[in-house]
Amino acid sequence: MKLFDVYPLFPIEPVKAQGSWLWDKEGNKYLDLYGGHAVISIGHNHPHFVESLKSQLDKISFYSNSVKNSLQEKLAEKLGQLSGYPNHQLFLCNSGAEANENAFKLASFVNGRKKVIAFKKAFHGRTSGAVAATDNSKIVAPFNAGHEIIFLPINDEQAFLDTINKEISSVIIEGIQGVGGIHFPSNSFLQLLSKKCKEVGALLILDEVQSGYGRTGKFFAHQFANVEADLISIAKGMGNGFPIGGVLIHPDIKPWSGMLGTTFGGNYLACAAGLSVLEVIDQENLMQNAADLGKFWIDQLKSFPSILEVRGEGLMIGFDLPDSLASLRKDLLFKHHMFTGEAKPNTVRLLPSLALSREEANQFLEALAVELKQTVAL
Ligand SMILES: Cc1ncc(COP(=O)(O)O)c(C=O)c1O
Repeated sequence: MKLFDVYPLFPIEPVKAQGSWLWDKEGNKYLDLYGGHAVISIGHNHPHFVESLKSQLDKISFYSNSVKNSLQEKLAEKLGQLSGYPNHQLFLCNSGAEANENAFKLASFVNGRKKVIAFKKAFHGRTSGAVAATDNSKIVAPFNAGHEIIFLPINDEQAFLDTINKEISSVIIEGIQGVGGIHFPSNSFLQLLSKKCKEVGALLILDEVQSGYGRTGKFFAHQFANVEADLISIAKGMGNGFPIGGVLIHPDIKPWSGMLGTTFGGNYLACAAGLSVLEVIDQENLMQNAADLGKFWIDQLKSFPSILEVRGEGLMIGFDLPDSLASLRKDLLFKHHMFTGEAKPNTVRLLPSLALSREEANQFLEALAVELKQTVAL
């Protein structure tokens, strides 16, 4: 059987990983500044993560959600403590798209409405409602297109005020738009969304799948705006590569038996992975590291004259290049052995582990200086 060929692949096969580094089959070493798309939060194969998974495997690896699993409670407790949302409830699932799908469903259960406001350049996943709320018609099949989604420009307060009303079930927005190229909702815009949602009985969904879990230096990016979300979707950095997702749910939303469900969500291995990630973020002060290194990188990147614009917060950074430098990402990968991310047309995205070191951050700037034929003072 052949694989369904949907991914454009680099001709590199990593076989080993540690911290911010990957090794391929030939023994070449790569600096990972992409984190497998913002997934590697605490560093590849962190010893506490590896040990937690191994020791869980020796005990029990799976049973269904029909029995008590106190690891889920431990994970929820630690997440409540670190995230600043101790009173929200946690529903565990397997991916970011599934988290958003459940968030839409919860909002709709609460207010009995169907319409959703989403924003231009948004990416919320590839399942039915999540992809319908994603601003990319190429990946929306006719089957997905039946949802009532209204796309508005981000930060356009008037457009939002003209659209929000008592027919809207939920408003979904990324803490920082990732796939769209690192674009921010302003603090005042998020505050307006929060206020108007409350007024009309719509629920505010913060998609923190990419921007959450400490990546920006705060646990959630929307916390810079001092707003509280009704529903928060999480995944990616949550399991450091082990598949796990979740929805944080406002305490006023009351569950009923069978309201949501999943076979694999919240399984023992996923919880062991998720708990170890939170413990490492806490013990190793990784949010502070993300804030400090992010500030350093952003300041340095702004000093390169050939970079058109730098946007970011913590270790979620994008910078725009002119067409003449469109090959930079490939050059960084093949000449300097450094993985980075992209956004169309010419944005390079940096989404490394939150445990990146200053030395590793410097190595990237030195490689960049070579490629941009500029000097950098470190
Ligand atoms: C903001 C955001 N939401 C949702 C998703 C979908 O997550 P998953 O691929 O785990 O379904 C992504 C994935 O890139 C994302 O960036």
